[in-house]
Amino acid sequence: MKPQSLLSGALVCFLALVATQCGTTSGEIPHLLKRGTATQLIVDGKPFLMLGGELSNSSGTSPEYMKPLWPKLVDAKANTILAGVSWNQIEPQEGKFDFTALDGIVHDARLHNLHLVLLWFGSWKNSWSSYPPDWVKKDYERFPRVQITGGKSIEVLSTLSDANRDADARAFAALLGHVKAVDSGRHTVLMIQVENEIGLPSEPKEFRDRSPLAEKAYAGPVPKELMDYLQQHKDTLVPELRTVWEAAGSKTSGTWEEVFGKGTPTEEIFMGWNYARYVGRVVEAGKAAYPLPMFMNAYTYGFAKAGEAIRNSGTPMPDLMDVWRAGAPRVDVLALDIYGSDFASFCADYQRSGNPLLIPETRGLAPYSMEARVLYAFGRHDAIGISLMGIERPAATPDPLLTASFGLISQLAPLIAKHQGDGSMSAVLVDPKGPPQKVQVGNYTMEVAAQTRRGGPPSEDFAAAIFIAVGPDEYYAAGTGVSVKFSPNASGPESAGIGTVEEGWFDNGTWVPSRQLAGDETGQGQNLSLRSHPADRMPDRFAGIQHFTLYRYR
Ligand code: DGJ
Repeated sequence: MKPQSLLSGALVCFLALVATQCGTTSGEIPHLLKRGTATQLIVDGKPFLMLGGELSNSSGTSPEYMKPLWPKLVDAKANTILAGVSWNQIEPQEGKFDFTALDGIVHDARLHNLHLVLLWFGSWKNSWSSYPPDWVKKDYERFPRVQITGGKSIEVLSTLSDANRDADARAFAALLGHVKAVDSGRHTVLMIQVENEIGLPSEPKEFRDRSPLAEKAYAGPVPKELMDYLQQHKDTLVPELRTVWEAAGSKTSGTWEEVFGKGTPTEEIFMGWNYARYVGRVVEAGKAAYPLPMFMNAYTYGFAKAGEAIRNSGTPMPDLMDVWRAGAPRVDVLALDIYGSDFASFCADYQRSGNPLLIPETRGLAPYSMEARVLYAFGRHDAIGISLMGIERPAATPDPLLTASFGLISQLAPLIAKHQGDGSMSAVLVDPKGPPQKVQVGNYTMEVAAQTRRGGPPSEDFAAAIFIAVGPDEYYAAGTGVSVKFSPNASGPESAGIGTVEEGWFDNGTWVPSRQLAGDETGQGQNLSLRSHPADRMPDRFAGIQHFTLYRYR
């Protein structure tokens, strides 16, 4: 067991002193702010687009291990690192906290001018309880576990135990109190992920906890808070939940099976509620200490519906959004980890009913490259942020296209932030084997076709493009390899022509034109070609942004 070391005490004082003496920023804590239909993360008074890289689970437990890796993260053009904080590491003995490792990570993130999002690996991580301290794991009477059919306990803390919940909440509040002590003047730490991909494990397959506490709760009445929420929000419930409730008669009281019907979807709604109630109390304790924005992350399984075997029962999937909102109202965002190929569908599903899009984990798995995911998340869905999982792993970086896309969004960030939430920006994904895709932005419709690099092999990956209308006939755009034609939206002359086209870059929000494009570079004026230059071929400046005007004629 590692006692609180003298070093950590001195380091805490040093960090607190640094936080108060030099480089202090505004007193405004990082927070979320609605802007039209978008929600923005505000850091030091400005909208912040998180271009993230999540460390592998255990990397953040050792500042020494991380020391040689920080330069890679800077080279990848990430602006935020997502790092796990282990309950076992910060509270090795009950009530005794040690933040030495965390202080080292905060210190080194600052040295590399990077922000942090901390991932609270507390009661559950990927469904299992591998992060609670030994004094919790060993005392299975005081800290009960989930039981499966037949009464066997598994290594998953039960959501029905107040002792489990209160121990987690105390540790989480201590963590947030420490973050406030060392960072409230610097805002290195921007947000907190609470637990990680929670929900019952998909193996052994159970849809609900069958411990004695759980059996009693499941046989009992649906809590009044949830029934009140359903009635107060019945017109805006996600359709999947409303369908289940209505199919059972839209009852306003009763047991879980009376209100939602018999079967595994009801068991999953029960687990969703109990996970949400538990996490809701953990979040309340953390927010009382330091109210940073807090989010959950669900591991999405493709379109498995509630009750289908592959899902971790109770995880905050889109169809359980309302259950999570009712049970854990202080959770600011229901985020998603998305590795599967249904990237576009899940982005849309998670942005329902006002939930902002935040993707703490993804990778450039076919058929969506990281570059396409980045452009689409910010351009089409006003994302708060997106993050590459395992960014410090050799296979992940350097990735010239990831660097190019992070560099591109960094350049566009002030423009994107200005145009989020008001309908003047959008993006599109195009299947190279499919038809062109149309998207309306401002007064024109863009018809976007995937375009292979001249002389290059056809790409299997979807192409992506982002368009921002800055005037009735004026746009900025960027893409991963597309050809774009235009047509007018509103009434008037029915043809659209391409006016002036500039390639260039943004230097701290100021446009710097370079080549003026025409002729071969604009299909003799018939179409734009948008393609970013991989960072290993051209300086970031040439990330492929184009500034152009259109006109109408008949
Ligand atoms: C999703 C989890 O959230 C991560 O912590 C990690 O386990 C990845 N899966 C796999 O690397």
